Amino acid sequence: MKKNIAVIEGDGIGPEVTAQALKVLEAIATEFGHEFQFTKCLMGAVAIDASGTPLPDKTIETCLYSDAILLGAIGHPKYDNDPTASVRPEQGLLKLRKSLQLFANIRPVTTYASLQHLSPLKLKNLQGVDLVIYRELTGGIYFGKKNLSDDGSTASDECIYTKEEILRIAKLAFEKAQQRRKKLTLVDKANVLETSRLWRKTVQELSAQFPDVSVDFLFVDNAAMQLIVNPKQFDVILTENMFGDILSDEASVISGSLGLLPSSSIGNSSALFEPIHGSYPQAAGKDIANPVGAVLSAALMLDYFGLKDEADMVRSSVEWALSHGFVTRDIDDVNYYSTSTIGDLLVNYIDNRKASDINKNNVALSKSTII
Ligand code: IPM
Ligand code: MN
Repeated sequence: MKKNIAVIEGDGIGPEVTAQALKVLEAIATEFGHEFQFTKCLMGAVAIDASGTPLPDKTIETCLYSDAILLGAIGHPKYDNDPTASVRPEQGLLKLRKSLQLFANIRPVTTYASLQHLSPLKLKNLQGVDLVIYRELTGGIYFGKKNLSDDGSTASDECIYTKEEILRIAKLAFEKAQQRRKKLTLVDKANVLETSRLWRKTVQELSAQFPDVSVDFLFVDNAAMQLIVNPKQFDVILTENMFGDILSDEASVISGSLGLLPSSSIGNSSALFEPIHGSYPQAAGKDIANPVGAVLSAALMLDYFGLKDEADMVRSSVEWALSHGFVTRDIDDVNYYSTSTIGDLLVNYIDNRKASDINKNNVALSKSTII
């Protein structure tokens, strides 16, 4: 299979984690006889530095003509700490999502037996957690009209949803629930927000077409608590843009590290794959960031291409690494490996030099131990 993949490394740790995902994709291509053509393009703070705009037209064009997009991370502290900045790296990502109509952001949350001790949650609440968040990505308060009064003392962000916007992602979420444990939870704030009432009404109506899926409704404040006290109850969570942003970061503590979680953003004709973590500027250039979220995003891309065995191979390489202690510092701050070493180990695994062949001592040189 031949695929053109647009690669946006972005800011901070983006280039380092993306490099590992690319290594893994190359290894898969070799192992399974595919051809992946990567085209790098700029977005975010690096694009502002290079061209004054966070999303150059050329990047949109490359993405439009690609089979999929792989993204690292976007964001830079010089903008975070300057609320008056008129051009911001995140505008690039938001504009790309909107331009490509990537309306469904899918964030699976799984647990790894070897990492359960990292979660602040009790073990009994973690075992068997397997949920996926369907976050609406091109509407709501993120994209509503924004206003700051002339005297700078009043600001507003409008939150708008149309029935069509709700229906298109709700359908995908119902279909996913049908393939899973057949439970869908709509998270909203229907006791306060008109948009949430439209979500609830639309999902209630649509549920008639999916009689095998049981639907429940939770207010977002309650859902935030339920995710911590009883995450096992969830199968598919469907929610609007901002609630999904917040709940997916919260849900990452179930896995043990924000660095582990991948996501896919699906539109009518394009799809983008990115870890859910941010650009983590403090770690940039140090070869310490966790590449697993990026690598698992590449696995979701392979799923999207219909390459199930290939995607499974990537996931099993990650499971193998995590369960053998081949982890970055966010997972184990005493015995840890560098970002690039983890990438190399995953490639080794895919190249068939599996667990038993890899002697921990052989990679000891690239391991950092604090004693
Ligand atoms: C995410 C990020 C983005 C968002 C930022 C970088 C604009 O937090 O993908 O979750 O809020 O959607
Ligand atoms: Mn976020």
